[in-house]
Amino acid sequence: MNIFEARMNELYNQIEHHARLYYEKDEPEISDFDYDALVRELADLEREHPEFSRPDFLTHKVGGSASNLFKPVEHEVPMLSLDNVFDNQELADFFGRLNREHNSDSYVCEMKIDGIAVSLLYENGEFVQGATRGDGKVGEDVTENLREIDSIPKKLRIDSRLEIRGEVLMTLDSFRKLNQLREENGEKVFANPRNAAAGNLRKASKNLDSKSRRGLDFFAYYLVDAEKFGVKTQADALKFMADLGLPVQAAYQVCENLSEVWDFISHWHEKRFELDYVTDGVVIKLNDLTQWNAIGATSHAPRWAVAFKYPPEEALTKILAINISIGRTGVLTPVAILEPVNLAGTIVKRAGLHNADEISRKDIRVNDVVRIRKAAEIIPEVVAVEKDSRTGQEIIFEMPKRCPACNSEIVRLPDEVAYRCPNRASCPAQLRESIKYFASRDGMNIKGIGSRLSIQLVESGLVKILSDIYELKVESISGFKRMGEKLARKVISEIDQSKTRPVSSLIAALGIRFIGKNAAELLADRFRNLEAIMSADESEIANIDGMGEVRARSVRAFFQDDENVRLIRRFEELGVNTGKSVSGSSSQTQTQLSGKNFVFTGTLSNATREEAAEKVKNLGARVSNSVSSKTDYVVAGEKAGSKLSRAEALGVKILTEREFWDLLASYNIA
Ligand code: IVH
Repeated sequence: MNIFEARMNELYNQIEHHARLYYEKDEPEISDFDYDALVRELADLEREHPEFSRPDFLTHKVGGSASNLFKPVEHEVPMLSLDNVFDNQELADFFGRLNREHNSDSYVCEMKIDGIAVSLLYENGEFVQGATRGDGKVGEDVTENLREIDSIPKKLRIDSRLEIRGEVLMTLDSFRKLNQLREENGEKVFANPRNAAAGNLRKASKNLDSKSRRGLDFFAYYLVDAEKFGVKTQADALKFMADLGLPVQAAYQVCENLSEVWDFISHWHEKRFELDYVTDGVVIKLNDLTQWNAIGATSHAPRWAVAFKYPPEEALTKILAINISIGRTGVLTPVAILEPVNLAGTIVKRAGLHNADEISRKDIRVNDVVRIRKAAEIIPEVVAVEKDSRTGQEIIFEMPKRCPACNSEIVRLPDEVAYRCPNRASCPAQLRESIKYFASRDGMNIKGIGSRLSIQLVESGLVKILSDIYELKVESISGFKRMGEKLARKVISEIDQSKTRPVSSLIAALGIRFIGKNAAELLADRFRNLEAIMSADESEIANIDGMGEVRARSVRAFFQDDENVRLIRRFEELGVNTGKSVSGSSSQTQTQLSGKNFVFTGTLSNATREEAAEKVKNLGARVSNSVSSKTDYVVAGEKAGSKLSRAEALGVKILTEREFWDLLASYNIA
């Protein structure tokens, strides 16, 4: 056996072994970094020696090899963007420009998919590499993640090397299901399918269950070096790709002139909402590929194609009522309840109104006919009132004087736009939102506590203060609607596990004003435990780099409230990590780099900057964006710029990427 084949076999076995430990047993023996190194070595060998590759290999299917590290991929042919036109006139200008020099009577119109552009490379009929567009010249290697998308063929019946480009997207059906799930789990919902697709595509497999890349789809629209295959037109390129088994949009058409193109655009204006994916326009391409090279491109877009963008969708409807929703901090947000209207393919029943000032500025009244608009977001907004349609039946909106949930008197602080319910201690609406927030991803990350359960917990009276969550029993919640014993067990076990989260999670979960995830980490770094934070004075907190006076005041105010101190005591009694023992022994893993300040700059090749930052934070270090005399290390990747020069000027220790990973390895966690 040849040495490459032998090494590859060895790697297959090792990776399979470790993947099993990781995925099935949840008992990894080696670090993610070491695992990824094995995978990377194998991927490199596979590229060089595809003849020894094993297509049936476990990680090829489940994506076990998808590291959370994306390697850069240089595009042989740059991945360009498209110039946009927004109306008939601009489109006519494009035709004018094109036809001045190149007479053409054939164009292809395709729907413009609102997704993520990727390039797929096939060698000897095998899918070997997939990359995002990146900056057009260098993208990210997302091969393993793309393998998990069902509609991307892993094999094609063609021997020659073939590169195609297309768009990864999330179907609307999957998008709705995903958001529903996230909502129930107390996670942030995605604003639109494009964001959801991008998040999903770039996520490392290890954080997903094996089916989670489901819901992503793909369409091919561009054949690189088409002439190589004797393909002479874009229409033939689409057909050529479809014949190979690549998914190609059904909605495309060859047109002879501007007027036919305009018909296509008009036809799909409404009809596109029947598609199960989001399209935001039409791409018009010159059909004759032999002319493409002659016409050329600007630095960012070809001159032989253009994107027509549809205007944002608007509709007229009536405001039936203005309701109030109450947030975690007691802020009252008005929401317009609308006569249901079809907008961009969905039935819209509500619109966000932001705050009372906006309502008076736009003079929005109940019973008004309003123009609403939806861009890519889920919740549409009111653009303007149709004042001509007023009948005299309109009712001027006033913010309620009392909280609709607890009847407390509403207050408005002099320097704030917001109206608030001041009853932080026992307003059921605030409590419900606080529970949701407490359990959310950036807080204690308790899966299973989302909207529905939060409501049930408040309504049943089981949770009156946040610490009550840790006193819940399987029996007490298993009778809830849509719960049952099995799910209840899972939720209780999730709650139990959350007790050991780092103290920064607990600080963030408390919902102290202005104290989000980052500020919570700063506090935890500096004080290590909640006890110390509670007794710290304002200036001590304000002096932490990145905190400042407003946050310090807010932290002080929070702990001046005895209720909150009692809450922390209760957490302690119930075994939730408040960092108390940290001053003793259990702090080992947290403090190896504690107090050290890192700044990352330039492009790292083995991880994104965020991922590298996460690793040092886990060792107790702090990460900031700017270099100062307090910075301990600047990690300089490729193309590091001004931060590097500043570090040099200040004499701050500079680490190359290699030195950085070595440093982490010395802590044995890289
Ligand atoms: S052709 C050389 N066709 O829109 C450019 N692009 O706004 C070739 N897009 O970067 C692109 N649908 O990601 C083409 N049917 C389609 C498309 C499409 C969506 C994307 C593509 C491009 C972006 C520009």
